[in-house]
Amino acid sequence: MNIRKATPQDNFLLANLGVRTFADSFGADNTPEDMADYLKGSFSPKKQATELAEEGTTFLIAEIDGQPVGYTRLRQDPPPDCVTGVHPIEIVRLYSVKEWIGRGVGAALMQACLDEASRAGHDVIWLDVWEKNPRAIAFYQKWGFKKVGEQGFQLGSDLQNDWLMVRQV
Ligand SMILES: CC(C)(COP(=O)(O)OP(=O)(O)OC[C@H]1O[C@@H](n2cnc3c(N)ncnc32)[C@H](O)[C@@H]1OP(=O)(O)O)[C@@H](O)C(=O)NCCC(=O)NCCS
Repeated sequence: MNIRKATPQDNFLLANLGVRTFADSFGADNTPEDMADYLKGSFSPKKQATELAEEGTTFLIAEIDGQPVGYTRLRQDPPPDCVTGVHPIEIVRLYSVKEWIGRGVGAALMQACLDEASRAGHDVIWLDVWEKNPRAIAFYQKWGFKKVGEQGFQLGSDLQNDWLMVRQV
């Protein structure tokens, strides 16, 4: 497995990977209308090109034999009040393709996030995760993340409840 930093030329790859992994992860738990609305607003070559060009955003792509098997997006942005730390960084997205869940892609991406956060001098790393995503919550807890609060997440017309989790880098 190889993990590399995305380049501006990866906007199509990230848009496709974003739609595929989000739909595989949450399609069964949401209405087709809400999913369509969310996917349309969150993933497109133009949208990912904007995100790739954003100051403070880093995308990392996991590849096996040149095929993308997962990705993560890190972003330096002001955290919610319950996230304390001098120089925090957020894991905005962390996704393994379905075929590789439970086979180390998630772990490799998390380690790469921690390495990148440490390299860039961050002291805490935080994220939000849907309260109805037990596998991801178990994964984050296994990596030392602790719940520090909750916030809303709008998926189409559905206002969902997410946990805010944080750990030291
Ligand atoms: C989140 C994700 C990257 C984690 O990677 P992974 O390969 O599943 O990670 P691991 O298998 O190392 O860890 C998952 C842990 O959850 C546990 N688990 C699995 N299903 C579970 C469930 N339904 N309830 C509770 N725990 C569960 C596993 O046993 C494993 O713990 P263990 O290693 O102690 O056995 C991956 O599951 C994924 O891409 N999921 C879909 C997208 C997603 O939810 N992304 C996060 C959005 S915030």
